[in-house]
Amino acid sequence: MCGIIAYIGDQEALPRLIEGLRRLEYRGYDSAGVALIEPDGVWLRRAVGRVAGLAAETSDGCTSKVGIAHTRWATHGGVTLENTHPHLDATHRIAVVHNGIIENMEALKAVLIADGVEFLSETDTEVLPHLIRRHYTGDPLEAVRAALSHVHGTYGIAVAFADHPDVLIAARFGSPLVIGLGDGETVLASDPQAIVAHTRRVLYLDDREIAVISADGAKVQRLSGGDVNRDVSLIEADYAVAELGGHEHFMAKEIWEQPDALLRCLRGRVQIERGNAKLGGLNMTPRDMVNIREVVTVGCGTAYHAGMVGSMAIEHLARLPAHAEVASEFRNRHPIIPPDALYFAVSQSGETADTLGAVEEILVKGGQVMGVVNVVGSSIARTCGAGVYVYAGPEIAVASTKAFTSQVTALLVFTLMLARTRNQSLAQGENIARALLEAPDKLQEYLDDPGPIDAAADLVKDAKYCMFMGRGFSYPVALEGALKLKEISYVPCEAYPAGEMKHGPIAMLEDGTPVIVIAPRGSQRDKVISNIKEVQARGARTIIVHTRGDDEMARLADVSIPVPEVREFISPLLTVVPLQLLAYKVGIALGRDIDKPRNLAKSVTVE
Ligand code: G6P
Repeated sequence: MCGIIAYIGDQEALPRLIEGLRRLEYRGYDSAGVALIEPDGVWLRRAVGRVAGLAAETSDGCTSKVGIAHTRWATHGGVTLENTHPHLDATHRIAVVHNGIIENMEALKAVLIADGVEFLSETDTEVLPHLIRRHYTGDPLEAVRAALSHVHGTYGIAVAFADHPDVLIAARFGSPLVIGLGDGETVLASDPQAIVAHTRRVLYLDDREIAVISADGAKVQRLSGGDVNRDVSLIEADYAVAELGGHEHFMAKEIWEQPDALLRCLRGRVQIERGNAKLGGLNMTPRDMVNIREVVTVGCGTAYHAGMVGSMAIEHLARLPAHAEVASEFRNRHPIIPPDALYFAVSQSGETADTLGAVEEILVKGGQVMGVVNVVGSSIARTCGAGVYVYAGPEIAVASTKAFTSQVTALLVFTLMLARTRNQSLAQGENIARALLEAPDKLQEYLDDPGPIDAAADLVKDAKYCMFMGRGFSYPVALEGALKLKEISYVPCEAYPAGEMKHGPIAMLEDGTPVIVIAPRGSQRDKVISNIKEVQARGARTIIVHTRGDDEMARLADVSIPVPEVREFISPLLTVVPLQLLAYKVGIALGRDIDKPRNLAKSVTVE
């Protein structure tokens, strides 16, 4: 979703801003722009489409050493040049980029229009430069502070003033900003990914904070006044500048990284000899665990599916009520938050607005919530204050892959701890721990021989509809497989619990409709065989993901994809991978933009 990068220092800003925008591209966007401060005013260039197009627009060059830039993902107003950020005030001496949504934009606009301001875009953002101009009496910090006191909604903003080329102003409420402290330069961004090329030393802005940024650093204050002494944080060493490492796309790279990602998530946490695990970030004793009466996960998209798998494992192994909630529904329905329930906010980015909103709702109601988050220092991780980092490493492709398997793994590690305080003996705990620690090797074993994915992709790529189905632990996998296929290939598809298929979706089947069945060995296998026969009787062609050595399943399939045998609760970590590969191959066959699918954003920072 929208990205911000701003630069002030001893080097030319333009190439650094363009490079920063390139690093933000993975978040998803539809237009981009840059504003630099020149002696005679603001130098503005904007383009609809890719950053490469903007780079071409800037080929006349600009030697300024201070500027702000933005990738926009349209919310208020269509994808047009006029709506592209940065936006300027009427004198063209104040430039603003903004992430978030200004909720009282109509009211603010009415006041400004009555004042004679002419609006050039349909965006909510454009009220900001005009409002800042209205309050400007020579002090940039105070002008922005005063303007923001009238704003309702969410914002992460960077503001440049032609009258003050030695400073930039940044402010945050509900939309992340991080300040990178370099050598003779300071870089502001909405995402650490755009900063790591410059420095690993950063200051995270918190909500209701404002900063004056100069080439030698930043001074942070509360929006209400008063200095803030923020400690410098270090961005994780593995947060390297994202590179493809020989793969054609980040999605492929990230699929193949999964064994390593799982290993990082498990390392030092699971101990076979104790039949147990330790997640230091939870700050929970076994006694605290025993007092938990219910576990609920909240998340969006893939993170919601990971939560479904985790909650099934908790019910199955720890015999505690557990379920998964879609964050956008949960936060908006005034939910009941039992004080003895434990909530997990599952999020790769740690910035998803609905998941963050859910966390805030749980906290307001006195509940206990922990993060299951990938990006260290992200808003959800910091708001929860406790939780589990999944350590999947940066995920760049919009379609989430390694974050899913890592989130599931982290929730399974927690399940082991919870289960040991209740109904699993030491010997049973040892078996669970062993099964978990074997998962990365099993995943590698599958990736070394992924099976006939090309044949499966041939069946799916020209289909006008296809269906995914599974039971038990394989139902969330079916949902995740269908989500991947939609995201990457745009082939119409849906996922159903296999047992629900007769209650409607079976009417969709025609001769040749591909049905992808997730049917590993386990308690649900035999029931799924009946469902496979039912769809085949209606002409469906089946792609079956099953346990290696299950010859009956292999014989039933038009395309048989075997995965290594693992215990049932581990199976989603294996069965989801062929579905990720299937989506990838179909996307390639259809010529899709794999890492940046249409209309999608990596990090959805608006409600
Ligand atoms: C977006 C992404 C999905 C992701 C979801 C939740 O929709 O495109 O891939 O699953 O947000 O993101 P999060 O960062 O909270 O896991």
